[in-house]
Amino acid sequence: MNHCIAIASGKGGVGKSAITANLGAALSRLGRKVVLIDADIGLRSLDALLSLENNVVYDIIDLTSGDCELNNALLASEAYPGLYLLPAAQFRRAKALDPKQLRKILSLLRIFYDYILIDCPAGIERGLRNVLNAGVDDTILVTTPDDISLRSAERALQVIESKFLPRPRLIVNRLDADLVHSSEMMSARTVSEVVDLPLLGEIPEDQVFCRAMLRHSMLLSYQCEARSAFMRIAARLEGRTVPFPSYGQKAKTTRLQRFLSRRPKEVIPLDDH
Ligand SMILES: Nc1ncnc2c1ncn2[C@@H]1O[C@H](COP(=O)(O)OP(=O)(O)O)[C@@H](O)[C@H]1O
Ligand SMILES: [Mg+2]
Repeated sequence: MNHCIAIASGKGGVGKSAITANLGAALSRLGRKVVLIDADIGLRSLDALLSLENNVVYDIIDLTSGDCELNNALLASEAYPGLYLLPAAQFRRAKALDPKQLRKILSLLRIFYDYILIDCPAGIERGLRNVLNAGVDDTILVTTPDDISLRSAERALQVIESKFLPRPRLIVNRLDADLVHSSEMMSARTVSEVVDLPLLGEIPEDQVFCRAMLRHSMLLSYQCEARSAFMRIAARLEGRTVPFPSYGQKAKTTRLQRFLSRRPKEVIPLDDH
């Protein structure tokens, strides 16, 4: 049984593309054949995240327009055997992606791949709707643990529900265990209760994202906390029961640690003299 999953959010910049790339890589490490589709038409990023930007010749719009064959447009990751990319067009608009044509491509890809992960554009407009209308099985909603991102996720959820798709599973990204512990950031569990969606994964804020990008490699290639988070999410997608670390929630701290992580005092501007 293969899975075709759209990865969506309301707000941009919450980590959809980073999650699509690394989750795909994690599933390929578990021996699965995975194709990533960059559906962020006009703002593609997965080609760069997979270090394949110099290999792009044809893109998804060339494919849906019948200007090339599937094999011409698909790119294979060198670092992750079993991982493939169908890149987005860089100089086209969302309306260029015809959901009926995309549906045909998805049916074809289902024959060859265990997972099809679609990186959706941010927002709740045509770009997202084109993907949801193309016959995906499931959706993952990505949010960061803040009110603005949550509010946008709730709007995206309404769009997903209007398409009669199953309730999405939630990934909470960029968690800071210290801030969660000092109640200055919502925990992943709280976020999942607020939006009333089942939690698929929680990913910590991790500097390795930035370092990996600078080295033109993927975060998953480095031993770090976020890598473990992706491997856990991949295992859950495979149907395994994997415990949640609950960043910041269960941490036991010493009196000294509590003293050092006190809330910062507000900065009160000095009066002009
Ligand atoms: N958990 C994280 N820790 C640190 N940086 C992150 C994390 N998740 C994403 N980022 C960074 O945030 C930025 C936006 O991520 P991106 O995947 O492009 O978001 P989106 O696709 O939702 O617009 C990127 O620079 C990415 O490396
Ligand atoms: Mg993106």
